[in-house]
Amino acid sequence: MAPTRMTRIVNVADAQRRARRTLPRALFDYIEGGADDEVTLAENERAFQEVALRPRMGIDVGEPGIATTVLGTPLALPVFLAPCGMAQLAHPDGAVGVARAASAAGTIAVLSKIALCSPEEVARRSPGPNWFQVNSAGGRDEVKHLMARAADAGFTGLVVTMDGPPPGNHERDVRHGMVPPVRLTPRFAARLATQIATRPQWLGAMTVAARRQTATIKDATRVLSSGGLRTSARFTWSDIEWIRNEWPGSLLVKGVLTGADAVAARDAGADAVIVSNHGGRALDGAPSTLSVLPEIVDAVGTSTEVLIDGGIRRAGCVVKALSLGARAVFIGRPWVYGLAAAGQPGVERIIEIFRAEMVRTLKLMGCPDVSALNPNWLQPMRPYQGQLPETAAGSVL
Ligand SMILES: Cc1cc2nc3c(=O)[nH]c(=O)nc-3n(C[C@H](O)[C@H](O)[C@H](O)COP(=O)(O)O)c2cc1C
Repeated sequence: MAPTRMTRIVNVADAQRRARRTLPRALFDYIEGGADDEVTLAENERAFQEVALRPRMGIDVGEPGIATTVLGTPLALPVFLAPCGMAQLAHPDGAVGVARAASAAGTIAVLSKIALCSPEEVARRSPGPNWFQVNSAGGRDEVKHLMARAADAGFTGLVVTMDGPPPGNHERDVRHGMVPPVRLTPRFAARLATQIATRPQWLGAMTVAARRQTATIKDATRVLSSGGLRTSARFTWSDIEWIRNEWPGSLLVKGVLTGADAVAARDAGADAVIVSNHGGRALDGAPSTLSVLPEIVDAVGTSTEVLIDGGIRRAGCVVKALSLGARAVFIGRPWVYGLAAAGQPGVERIIEIFRAEMVRTLKLMGCPDVSALNPNWLQPMRPYQGQLPETAAGSVL
């Protein structure tokens, strides 16, 4: 792809626009879309706008601290890159580029089971630390096999995704003919070819990386045509207990939306829970993640670390989540947009935007360190619902 001037990507929305212009429409919609009416997808972002930050004056915090630890692993900033499948199709730098960008910035990219890139290759080409994600597809045999490969390759964290099967109903993908089992009919191929013809930059990059991409596209076709999650049973809490016994590293359960489930995950052996609705891609109508965070933090107290994803587009969102008790956050689409826009440097740019925004936001708030965040730094964005006070001359308005 032609080199992108990184300074033109000022925020996540810029990267999103660039991704939209770069990718074939079906691929952009796969990344962008949510389930059904995309209500939960929209609510994730909206929930953050309903919370206001309460800045304090009269304090010069100097250079605020944004580093933290999650399950004992140091992070330069409290932002992980969430596992996102098929990212290899967004740019030939793929999952290795994402892992390298995260590592260089002092954070971690969780490798999706369907990243179309093996844990061995990521471990070989990125210094890490590396974490891996699994779902229930293929049953315990496949999970055991993948866990062994990830552990042998030096992966130290395992994210277990619980909010499927079945996958959510992605109507954008249905319209593009992209739902499993995908069949490359002449009609489907012709429509894709038309979309690709209008994206020469993407086609050029994929063609340059042709050998590698042929393998990637074969893998993608295998994942899509297999029906993926459709055929398998959901994980139960006893599966989590079993995984706990098999997996030697950190264990995180992803997809928790209630306090009771956070307690069940902890009791089954999870070291951390990730409050997630799969970025609005699973059950439409599920609550926004920020709205249920306090219930979950309340339920598990300090016995389990609580992480969150969904709709995080600015450092202000990170500060709000941490103030409500999250230890760190994950971003999904923001890094995929960066990857699509400019490959590994695009992902680096997105992380740098979050880092710089975190520092600026904490300075503006008069907060010296992320560890000092608590609910007192927040208030509702529109707290005043009642009558306006009267003055001698009548209403203040
Ligand atoms: C294109 C795409 C692919 C995804 N693939 C996976 C996956 O393979 N496994 C998984 O647990 N979550 C997957 N997710 C969900 C993300 O891990 C994460 O929960 C979500 O993207 C967070 O919301 P955000 O995109 O608003 O940041 C995917 C999300 C997107 C956008």
